[in-house]
Amino acid sequence: MTARHFLLDTDLTSAEQAALLDLADRLKATRRERGTAPRPLEGRSVALIFEKPSTRTRLSFDVAVAELGGHPIVIDSASTQLGRGETIEDTAAVLSRYVDAIVIRTFAQERVERMASAATVPVINALSDHAHPCQALADLQTIRELRGRLAGLTLTYLGDGNNVAHSLMLAGAMAGMRVHVASPPGYEPFDQVVRQANEIGAVTGGEALVMHDALEAATDADVLYTDVWASMGQDDESDTRALVFQPYRLDEKVVEVARPDAIVMHCLPAHRDVEISAAVLDGPRSVVFDQAENRLHAQKALLSVLLDDASDDASSEAA
Ligand code: CP
Ligand code: NVA
Repeated sequence: MTARHFLLDTDLTSAEQAALLDLADRLKATRRERGTAPRPLEGRSVALIFEKPSTRTRLSFDVAVAELGGHPIVIDSASTQLGRGETIEDTAAVLSRYVDAIVIRTFAQERVERMASAATVPVINALSDHAHPCQALADLQTIRELRGRLAGLTLTYLGDGNNVAHSLMLAGAMAGMRVHVASPPGYEPFDQVVRQANEIGAVTGGEALVMHDALEAATDADVLYTDVWASMGQDDESDTRALVFQPYRLDEKVVEVARPDAIVMHCLPAHRDVEISAAVLDGPRSVVFDQAENRLHAQKALLSVLLDDASDDASSEAA
């Protein structure tokens, strides 16, 4: 049996991404109306492993698994044998005997990939240094519900060409969006990600563009987005980054050149008056708490899809 993993945005096709967003919308509506929701994880368990801190991802996955009828087990790697050097492969093999899926937040993308290659259950990337694909799904859901579409919209991301930027480029291109990333020289997204996003865009009508001028990148944008200047694991670079990234702050000047109905996004946690001005983060265009809420709905949809595929595999094996 080969389990279906979600390690990078491109592990879904564009059509699957759109269907998943539709399901996330339906799950959100049902929850709001207090309707009867499906419980595809009844009798199943999901391990949530955190090698870095988290508020949103941890809570939203925990609640998502429980609302789908499953049993979430949240683990800080430091309190397990992983923290004492047990290999990721042995951990994956053991967990696969207990649980029906593994969600992991870690450092190198290679750790997520090694977990997936040794696991016999679906593995989900809950953020690595390279990508944050669950965040991008919630972001697309948010943009689509507020703008009614994704294809043809311009999303401008200012700041570090990091995990969040990579996922927005890939997931955005898959949805037919133009994604502009304005970063200081030396902090751009990886070339290979930009190339892949443009290859996808050649089919979907999307595009990924790396720029260095924040105002040029933000001109006529439909969505303005930023993230922290120093990601988890880069704390010793905070001072240098605070200087280098100054021209990329998402502030009123940036908002002025975007479209009059542009929305402002940040994956959170945010630093007011550092990467984003307090007035913009707390202002009328900001949709940051809708984004945070949609982590729950998008991840419920993701778990439903991946575990549905897994149960199809299991029943065909049993037959
Ligand atoms: N946006 C996000 O992933 O937040 P957490 O680090 O709190 O999970
Ligand atoms: N780029 C940030 C995202 C936090 C959700 C980090 O990796 O720390």
